[in-house]
Amino acid sequence: MIYLDHAATSWPKPKSVLRAMVGFLEKAGGNPSRSGHRLSIAAGRIIYETRESIAKLFSVPDPLKVIFTTNATASLNLVIQGILKPGDKVLTTSIEHNAVMRPLRKLEKAGIQITVIACRPDSSLDLSELERLLDADTKMVIINHASNVTGIVLPIQTIGDMVRKTNAFFVVDAAQSAGTIPIDVQQMHIDFLTFSGHKGLLGPSGTGGLVLGNRIKATDVSPIVLGGTGSKSEFEEQPEFLPDRFESGTLNGPGIAGLGAGVEEVLQKQVSSIQAYETSLAKILIEGLCNIPGIQVYGPKPEEPRTGVVSFTVQGKKVSEIGYRLDEEFEVLCRVGLHCAPAAHRTIGTFPEGTVRWAIGMNTTPKVIAKALFALQRIIRK
Ligand SMILES: Cc1ncc(COP(=O)(O)O)c(C=O)c1O
Repeated sequence: MIYLDHAATSWPKPKSVLRAMVGFLEKAGGNPSRSGHRLSIAAGRIIYETRESIAKLFSVPDPLKVIFTTNATASLNLVIQGILKPGDKVLTTSIEHNAVMRPLRKLEKAGIQITVIACRPDSSLDLSELERLLDADTKMVIINHASNVTGIVLPIQTIGDMVRKTNAFFVVDAAQSAGTIPIDVQQMHIDFLTFSGHKGLLGPSGTGGLVLGNRIKATDVSPIVLGGTGSKSEFEEQPEFLPDRFESGTLNGPGIAGLGAGVEEVLQKQVSSIQAYETSLAKILIEGLCNIPGIQVYGPKPEEPRTGVVSFTVQGKKVSEIGYRLDEEFEVLCRVGLHCAPAAHRTIGTFPEGTVRWAIGMNTTPKVIAKALFALQRIIRK
């Protein structure tokens, strides 16, 4: 089986992730921060260690600024719905995922002003347009670090520098970049970094989180889920301190244990090496695709900043047919269609049909790519 769907979720997970999850359930199954007994303390320790690993990965000095959620979508909803008020102005781009656009479109009906900056057909962002629109009234700038449709990497450092000169919050959707592109929350002037735990960080499904930048106070965001935290139980009001303010209810202990092991794998391999490996494979893949007549590849050129996500269409064939036949006849697993990002497909001209998306992971090899290209050629021929 050839797995080229790492942008949806990475697979297979490292053995260390599986071991950490089983280990949590066997040896540390208590409810963290609730009961004071040894199993509760053991669970709390594993969760704190995962916070520390994530803080190290994103160069965050205080691990308590790492908040666990269930996925990047939950983190984006927390930031978007927990901050914006009627009258606020938000700038975003036309390559955002629906995890950004759906909460924004909901709030738009409540009087929040959304400006979507149209990206170029290769999905790159015109920074002068961002600069022109960014003003003292802008409350939030939300940018997709790496597109889940074209693999383009947007210049977060430059954008962060621009946004830092204003009062706006800088929110970076790192669902596709966490673990595959180096991120330094402080240096990049990121106020809120939202990430998936189950993609490049190699954790299990149901994990994700949010990192608060150094100028953010817990009270800048209203929690959208309130309840028991195991702390300040004498009060019926939500605590204001981190991370409890945003972590009501029992956490996904086994998931967070697995995430911690996944992040340790990433730290060991080094994100810059993972990035170099995946982009070199993307180059091989794109060259191979471009040599097949009738294939159109979308997004940035291979030498431009990009991840291992590659989207293409085949002249005269439906993407659904390609996806189905790759799976059925060749056991090549990928994703086809709109990838929950209709605006991105409007931007690159592939709406409403979408594209075939092949997403490389750190265990993909040149041999795997050659096999997938061979399968595609066979499908195109008949
Ligand atoms: C760019 C982008 N943002 C947000 C998400 C949502 O991530 P999650 O599935 O962890 O909620 C995804 C998922 O594919 C994504 O690619």
